[in-house]
Amino acid sequence: MSGKFIVVEGLEGAGKSSVIALIETLVNAKGHKTITTREPGGTPMAEAIRECVKQNWQETVVEETELMLMYAARAQLLANVIKPALANDTWVIGDRHDLSSQAYQGGGRGISQTTLTTLRDLTLKGFSPDLTLYLDVEPATGLARARGRGELDRIELSGLAFFERTRARYQALAEQDDSIVTISAMQAMPDVHQQVKEVVEQFLQ
Ligand code: TMP
Repeated sequence: MSGKFIVVEGLEGAGKSSVIALIETLVNAKGHKTITTREPGGTPMAEAIRECVKQNWQETVVEETELMLMYAARAQLLANVIKPALANDTWVIGDRHDLSSQAYQGGGRGISQTTLTTLRDLTLKGFSPDLTLYLDVEPATGLARARGRGELDRIELSGLAFFERTRARYQALAEQDDSIVTISAMQAMPDVHQQVKEVVEQFLQ
């Protein structure tokens, strides 16, 4: 027996944290052990990469540097946390995974599909989530919510057009992939949670 990997994706301010808590409750209620992860991050080295990638540097952060740091953090998390947990019959609920790189670095920054595919194949070797919930929010709304939580980091300061491109890539990829379910995060939170509950309970059957 092995665990399942469920990922929650979306722009800043989409409400990922409360949805992750809800999913954990639902999965636990079925008697499964769970852990939660976040990307970039989730191991000591990957958390250091997270700090590095979010920081406002006094130099240009090259897009390829940002991309490779995301994958370096993902490689650490996959080998040291996600795969061992799944092998130990533990379900993993992930705050972001590979789809974030496809959307932010691919859509937002404009990195080519060839480069993305090369790094993904190198890092993941065919590994992918069992279910992804994509919480779709308008960038202006999401960023206003994120701003309400405090100072914006380097990526959050990338501008509205960057987040519009990121959202468009998320939407396009979600449409092509049956393992990604889109839920509108423009609804009131109780409605978002009701939809999440329906999707996860169906998956748990
Ligand atoms: P968050 O988890 O608090 O939203 O912060 C992670 C930030 O990193 C967020 O701005 C999205 C960004 N990110 C990418 O650009 N690419 C990635 O592959 C991942 C995992 C995150």
